[in-house]
Amino acid sequence: MTIFGTRPEAIKMAPIIKEIESDPDVASVVVVTGQHRKMLQQVLDIFNIQPDHDLKIMGKNQTLSDITNRVILGLDPILNDVRPDLVLVHGDTTTTMAASLSAFYHRIPVGHVEAGLRTWDKYSPYPEEMNRMLTDDIADLYFAPTALSRDNLLQEHHPESGIFITGNTAIDAMRYTVREGYRHDVLAQIPEGHRFILLTMHRRENQGQPMRETFKAIREVVEARSDLDVVYPVHLSPRVQDIAHESFDGVRGVHLIDPLNVVDFHGLAARSYFIMTDSGGVQEEAPSLNKPVLVLRDSTERPEGVDAGTLKVIGTDEQAVKAAMLELLNDPQEYRAMAEAKNPYGDGHAAERIVAICKNHALQQLRHAAK
Ligand code: UD1
Ligand code: UDP
Repeated sequence: MTIFGTRPEAIKMAPIIKEIESDPDVASVVVVTGQHRKMLQQVLDIFNIQPDHDLKIMGKNQTLSDITNRVILGLDPILNDVRPDLVLVHGDTTTTMAASLSAFYHRIPVGHVEAGLRTWDKYSPYPEEMNRMLTDDIADLYFAPTALSRDNLLQEHHPESGIFITGNTAIDAMRYTVREGYRHDVLAQIPEGHRFILLTMHRRENQGQPMRETFKAIREVVEARSDLDVVYPVHLSPRVQDIAHESFDGVRGVHLIDPLNVVDFHGLAARSYFIMTDSGGVQEEAPSLNKPVLVLRDSTERPEGVDAGTLKVIGTDEQAVKAAMLELLNDPQEYRAMAEAKNPYGDGHAAERIVAICKNHALQQLRHAAK
């Protein structure tokens, strides 16, 4: 049983679901919590996934307690009825943490996809760092994307026999989404010869002053140059929508658009000059597209991308954001160094490895039960 609820979980779980569906020895049960609605449906449509169960929990301005309560109560009857051999969760959302806890309450083993990422700061990102630590406390199988995430798990004394380095399924997903000769309406609004920056920003700890400062810096850089545009697909969270519109409405060259489906997002990312984001998933994808990323956060759980040279963690201070943007825009050498880095997140075959390990685990369990 795969359980997920938000856009990034869906994108990175989709290759695993496709892999399970193509395997005659494994039955797939897909449960979505509906923590996201439209942004989740966009992914389900692209990958042609029909959930078997949908908890439909999303509410406007939902709190962390709302999500946790609704997921645990909603999963109870489903886990009771289906009793899967294994539950798979992905990443670090509140759906991930609550679904793991729910599976534990039902004594069902849990596999954690994208296990072992850490900033070692429980409030950054908030609440994701705590969500992934709690999920790893519950999990039986750990699918670590890199050697570093495996080492993090070992440092916390999780059993080595349950930890596997698989690569990140984000790279698998890109095998479905990245297309040659990509076109989008927003590209027609960007004058010939202009470069454009692709921007996303949504994290809870950035909502408020950090977002306002960052957007002010971006606005000032765009206003000072006549050959630069920004494309910003704005997250549907009302808190984010309000600040984005307050900061950018009426600014020449800044295109606020609806969240993109993932084919469009990857297509536009591939056409952009560089990316500015506080997203986790985008940090993994950008090295595969050879795009520099300015990370709008104080810390990252993805230091592999920083070491590879693609990511620069710049925070949200207005002057720092401006300086980093100008350096990338004005210094071709700096730009090339970031754009030519090698992707450290795997070879696009993580899902195959994960499903093979799950099958092996299920077989072992059956043998154990038969003894
Ligand atoms: C959530 C995850 C975060 C992840 C992000 C990916 C938690 C606590 N946060 O944050 O880890 O990085 O998803 O995007 O699990 N909304 C809609 N339609 C949608 C989606 C969201 O209207 O399709 C609005 C709703 O009003 C909702 C609000 O956005 O209340 C916030 O959604 P929520 O899932 O609570 O937080 P995110 O910031 O999306
Ligand atoms: N993404 C998308 N449409 C958008 C913005 C992002 O499909 O308009 C994709 C992006 O390619 C990545 C994922 O969504 O795979 C990241 O999701 P998000 O930033 O919401 O969450 P995070 O990764 O920060 O948890």
